[in-house]
Amino acid sequence: MFIGYVVGESTTSSANVLMKNKVREGSYVTLEYEDVKALGLLTSLTVGSDVVDKDINDVILLDDLAKVNRDRIPKFVKGKIKLLVDLNGLRRIDLPPPPLTEVRLATDEELKAVYSRGNLSIGKVLGSNVPATIDINGLTRHMAILAATGAGKSNTVAVLSTRLAELGATVVIFDYHGEYSSLNTKRLNLIEPKLNPLKFSTKEFATLLNIRENAHIQYRILRRAFDDVKGEITNQLKSGKFDLKNVQENLKNLFLEKINNQATKEKDNDKSLAEVKNKIEEFFDEYGDFIDVNLEDVMDLISSARVNVVDLSPLDEDVMDAIVSHYLRRFLTSRKEHKRTGKGFKYPLLTVIEEAHVLLSKDRNTLTKHWAAKIAREGRKFGVILTVVSQRPKGLDENILSQTLNKIILRLVEPTDKKYVLETSDNLTEDLVQGLSSFNPGEALVIGPSVKLPMMVKIDKYEGNLAGKDPNLMEEWNRAKEEELIGKEALEW
Ligand SMILES: Nc1ncnc2c1ncn2[C@@H]1O[C@H](COP(=O)(O)OP(=O)(O)OP(=O)(O)O)[C@@H](O)[C@H]1O
Ligand SMILES: [Mg+2]
Repeated sequence: MFIGYVVGESTTSSANVLMKNKVREGSYVTLEYEDVKALGLLTSLTVGSDVVDKDINDVILLDDLAKVNRDRIPKFVKGKIKLLVDLNGLRRIDLPPPPLTEVRLATDEELKAVYSRGNLSIGKVLGSNVPATIDINGLTRHMAILAATGAGKSNTVAVLSTRLAELGATVVIFDYHGEYSSLNTKRLNLIEPKLNPLKFSTKEFATLLNIRENAHIQYRILRRAFDDVKGEITNQLKSGKFDLKNVQENLKNLFLEKINNQATKEKDNDKSLAEVKNKIEEFFDEYGDFIDVNLEDVMDLISSARVNVVDLSPLDEDVMDAIVSHYLRRFLTSRKEHKRTGKGFKYPLLTVIEEAHVLLSKDRNTLTKHWAAKIAREGRKFGVILTVVSQRPKGLDENILSQTLNKIILRLVEPTDKKYVLETSDNLTEDLVQGLSSFNPGEALVIGPSVKLPMMVKIDKYEGNLAGKDPNLMEEWNRAKEEELIGKEALEW
């Protein structure tokens, strides 16, 4: 379909079009000139009128103009085009389109040549029926899925992870809200967030108890007690003396005993001793049910070629941090071991961290941040891929965000979020970011090594259950009203 003509100045990366037929922002267009057949993206539209100019100062004249048939007032629609690639040989464009070049809407065939070459389809190229694909090997450069709330991040994670698992990928989702446990796939492996403190590092265990490293005395007391307990339990387990029926109680008492044993050494630090004991008691009271001293290694819980979902929803943020970082540490060390000795986890892993601004916050040092940053730096070599998901990109650690080279960006409205994403993405440009505010749910811009050229896509709707769906408020309130009525009737009766 003919859209209009190139006007004004063009470069090899951008051109302006004066439009005859309107199409929406985000449409793909083609321009043919000389021996170039350029594919471009319409990044912004402007509507105006030379007659009703912004410098008009005569409002009476406008009164009169408004009375005539408005359709007869000359108007123009101008568009900005980002030039992407020369479709002849998929080369870089090396010649700007001259004025009067005709601009057409790109055909499905033209879009297919660029966007259907990957090995995993995630939706349709925006405004077309062309499969929008990504190249899986590009994922080793990690990924960020970013968008305002309700724009379709979880839907994207569901589509991506189930399709990847069908291809044989091992995916591990850290499920902040418990919304992926009902994924509709045979390839689902649900993992309870069980933990074996004896396999934790002192730092991980201290985080679990909410003892910060700068609380030096408490940290020291805990470290000693933790070493003693580890030693004693390992021996008891070996000799079969440990009472597995009362694990929580036994473990708690053992910790308290080992802390009490330090009374002489720490005689000036009564308060710190009491504080650590208090934290141990609180932890076991609240999280005792999650303890499993028989759990040898969390890697044993991960099934290959599955979507493994670790439900974090019952946990508070410190416990989440300890558990997620423990997993991440094991992912990396286990894959390193596999590369070195052939032992360890056999297959590449793709891990998804939901609500990443919490555990990978730019303002807070968490253990998860330490290990996620390490994976972002080194994971590629060992086949550990990081995917961060966030509705608050500007709250994310800058280091990590700039190393997730693949980005799926759905509707993003907040200017500071957009600016931050722009600053942390080498392959993103301002013209692309502008249009993000007007996306509908599921519409996204994909950039990075997995797509090579920026791809506008309508992500497929996940055909299955996701517990995080938008609630239907009217329906739920009606149900509440009905239940109340039923209750009342029962009382009256
Ligand atoms: N690709 C899509 N096609 C159609 N509808 C979609 C698509 N993606 C999401 N939606 C709809 O938009 C709503 C929100 O989607 P989703 O839960 O994935 O958003 P989110 O970005 O994860 O939100 P939150 O920030 O709350 O986690 C859902 O009701 C979903 O059905
Ligand atoms: Mg979500």
